[in-house]
Amino acid sequence: MKKFQGVFIKNSREIENLREADRLTANVLDAIGDEVRPGIPSWHLEEVARDLCAQYGVEPAFLGYQNYPFAICCSINEAVVHGFPSKDRILREGDIVSVDFGVRYNGMVGDSARTYPVGQISETADRLLCVTEAALYVGIEKAVQGNDVYAIGRAIQNFVEGHGFGVVRRYVGHGVGATMHEKPEVPNYDPGVRGVQLRNGMCIAIEPMVTEGTWEVDVLPDNWTAVTQDRKYAAHFEHSVAVTSSGPTILSVGDRGIVRYKSQYPEINKLA
Ligand code: MF3
Ligand code: CO
Repeated sequence: MKKFQGVFIKNSREIENLREADRLTANVLDAIGDEVRPGIPSWHLEEVARDLCAQYGVEPAFLGYQNYPFAICCSINEAVVHGFPSKDRILREGDIVSVDFGVRYNGMVGDSARTYPVGQISETADRLLCVTEAALYVGIEKAVQGNDVYAIGRAIQNFVEGHGFGVVRRYVGHGVGATMHEKPEVPNYDPGVRGVQLRNGMCIAIEPMVTEGTWEVDVLPDNWTAVTQDRKYAAHFEHSVAVTSSGPTILSVGDRGIVRYKSQYPEINKLA
């Protein structure tokens, strides 16, 4: 595969294969969203993912990746990313659940994430979800040929901090393709230096992780689950995106089309 500044340039066939992996990934996230409600164990979401993978004849991309033991990452409330689904954790009204998921298909890896509300959530949590998702789209707009890749994080950070929330630094977005994590890194903040110049054919996963309070995180003794240091809520939205001559193209779109978070508080919706 051709490279520019160390980053793979995908041809249209490769992008179509990636799009198909991401379409199935998004279909699974749509189905998981349908199941989120008070009273179910978070393990149920893992089962939905595994069942649909079997039905589609695809591999869950996370299972076994660096020994990660599940198909989904399921990060509740103060958990930012890489949380474990569990039979013992029953979803409660007011929780927020971030699900990160991807499939391997046709030699390509899909990668996308969303945060779902469990029943009625607080106004602050609702605002957190709206701002995080809107930040993702603010970042996607910057994924155009000629831009510095760090323009994405600069725009995300400005937007998020302008709404009074924090941007996680320890984890970043990434190039995506035949493997889940390729060059370049796609931070959600401004690293203050120059990065790779974006070129048509580059495919990146943009994934703002946004916090109500501090952006500092700890990793729990399970060695995976990242939680906010102040244990306030965090949200995570991710799309895989191709930089193309017709602009940024979101690949992680399921058969329902782009599904946007709908605020439970009408005034909040307007900010998205
Ligand atoms: N999908 C995550 C990302 O967005 C990584 C998951 S790590 C795994 O980069 F180990 F859970 F696979
Ligand atoms: Co990712």
